[in-house]
Amino acid sequence: MNTQMNEVRSESEVNIPAFRLENMSIAYSGNVAVSGVTVDIPQKQLTALIGPSGCGKSTILRSLCRLNDLIPGVEISGRVELFRQDLRQMEAITVHRRVGMVFQRPNPFPKSIYENIALGLRVNGYRGKIDEMVERSLQQVALWDEVKDRLRSNALNLSGGQQQRLCIARALALQPEVILMDEPCSALDPIASLRIDNLLNQLKQFYTLVVVTHNLQQAARIADQVAFFNTNRAEGRIYGTLAEFGPVVQVFSEPQKQETYDYVNARSN
Ligand SMILES: Nc1ncnc2c1ncn2[C@@H]1O[C@H](COP(=O)(O)OP(=O)(O)OP(=O)(O)O)[C@@H](O)[C@H]1O
Ligand SMILES: [Mg+2]
Repeated sequence: MNTQMNEVRSESEVNIPAFRLENMSIAYSGNVAVSGVTVDIPQKQLTALIGPSGCGKSTILRSLCRLNDLIPGVEISGRVELFRQDLRQMEAITVHRRVGMVFQRPNPFPKSIYENIALGLRVNGYRGKIDEMVERSLQQVALWDEVKDRLRSNALNLSGGQQQRLCIARALALQPEVILMDEPCSALDPIASLRIDNLLNQLKQFYTLVVVTHNLQQAARIADQVAFFNTNRAEGRIYGTLAEFGPVVQVFSEPQKQETYDYVNARSN
């Protein structure tokens, strides 16, 4: 077990991409949703996935942690590597340990704030002190001071922004290498959303973050790299492709493609 962990850690330290996607296509019941995606997602940076509704951002994000496997009728082709290992050949439990996910709507368990973090630790056989990890994770998301006196109260009583920070803390407690987030701020007010942006800007020093967002200002504030997906039409069907990938400044200020320019400027006017 120790040797395995060491292998994982030393591999992550080398400057290889966190994810390598090669010609990934995903279809639902025979309808192609996203096609031919090839990209390297760098480690310890924040990559934002942007693009119009239905272009396949959530589909691609789910393929990075094997959540599409749970959808009946899904067909996946191509290859995804997680730190050079074939993600689709790894055990799902290993993928879920290494890659955390935070969803659009905060989804704490209907249990106490404490249990929201402790439960996952126990299920995963965490050997350290659970109290310490609960505190550390809540500190990491700057929620500790707000909740330390009511750890036993129900997490559903927290505000939306606090619930989302709790969900991020719950993911962090399991010590993943990567955290995926699908529109993590879309259900939050601008102040709560800004707090999450600040948090993500800090977390990206230590974790690889991949964040879907419709908010281009947010992408500009938090992203290092931006992947712009666009919709295409063929024979009356709509499917997504990766139109452009590059550093945030390039995608927003000097896009290589007209379609990227049109998208980022239409939204910011
Ligand atoms: N579980 C599913 N079953 C069938 N089709 C699906 C499923 N999930 C997504 N799709 C289809 O795949 C395509 C891409 O959807 P996806 O949710 O990945 O887009 P998105 O870019 O995340 O959109 P949005 O910005 O609206 O969230 C759409 O045509 C959608 O209808
Ligand atoms: Mg989506």
